[in-house]
Amino acid sequence: MRFLASGRRHKAARPLLLLLSLFLVGAVYALVTPATSSSAEGVADAQLIAAGKNLFATNCASCHGLNAEGLAQQGAPNLTNVGAAAVDFQVRTGRMPMANPLVQAPRKENTFTEDEIAALAAYVASLGDGPAIPDESQYDPSSVSAEGVARGGDLFRTNCSACHNFKGAGGALPDGRVAPSLQGVDAKEIWEAMRTGPGQMPVFASGSIPDEDVQKMVAYLEQVNATPSAGLSLGGLGPVAEGFWAWVAGIGSLVLFATWIATRGPRA
Ligand code: HEC
Ligand code: HEC
Repeated sequence: MRFLASGRRHKAARPLLLLLSLFLVGAVYALVTPATSSSAEGVADAQLIAAGKNLFATNCASCHGLNAEGLAQQGAPNLTNVGAAAVDFQVRTGRMPMANPLVQAPRKENTFTEDEIAALAAYVASLGDGPAIPDESQYDPSSVSAEGVARGGDLFRTNCSACHNFKGAGGALPDGRVAPSLQGVDAKEIWEAMRTGPGQMPVFASGSIPDEDVQKMVAYLEQVNATPSAGLSLGGLGPVAEGFWAWVAGIGSLVLFATWIATRGPRA
């Protein structure tokens, strides 16, 4: 250790030693882990589920109940058989946790990390059945041919356009509900929505529309989205930007109108 104690040691000695020890720890870790991986996996699953249960207790149980059994007075459904895909979809799209009891949970910014979503999904999946989170191979549209895209268009018009419009632009439903625009929605979320049927949307199970057909529909939607639309698209910035401008223009004109009434009031 004279080398370390000596004042003459090279400037880089300390960082180099640190790197070397990190490397050694890493190498030892890599040597040790394969031997224990199968039991470690079981432990990791149990830990993920336990973490999910905790997250659920603080973020979801007030509406869905401590054991996800559902609470009628909150109008919140039993989640024991909705599966990991439903949780992944609802949390990823920011619908859950719902902020206020509304007719329909709106899509909003998701505030959970990937790990937290995985934990919540693993916990709910551990309670019963339901679709798992899909692999990319189940929804990835990249291998769909031009004919496949056309077939996807047919399938979309038959099964989805009644609510979402034939280009996926969205539409109003009875009772103040909305079928949202599908522009810019991830392929994975389209798969998950079809398999879990959020809100008023029906479930489209793999028995009626297999994964290959979902891929074709995703490919069709991507093509429709890539085609410039006629009319005011606001630069195609998507629903958030459009909502923002609708808000600014809507509230703005209300404010102008209110000011106009106020200035005219005393004179009238
Ligand atoms: C303020 C109450 C409230 C909170 C908090 C809440 N939910 Fe919900 N949840 C609802 C209601 C109401 C519905 C049904 C309405 C709908 O689907 O639009 C619902 C539906 C769901 C569904 C869809 C079930 C199905 O049949 O597909 C899932 C999954 C879900 N919630 C998960 C969660 C998770 C996970 C959390 C916590 C991160 C959470 N919720 C927090 C009220 C709530
Ligand atoms: C009966 C009307 C109806 C039909 C038919 C329908 N949907 Fe939906 N869809 C809805 C409603 C309503 C929602 C919003 C649910 C919510 O927010 O709770 C929705 C949500 C979605 C979402 C989530 C979008 C987002 O912004 O997160 C996707 C994706 C979707 N639908 C795809 C489809 C596809 C693909 C089909 C055809 C296979 C289809 N839907 C058929 C009514 C419908």
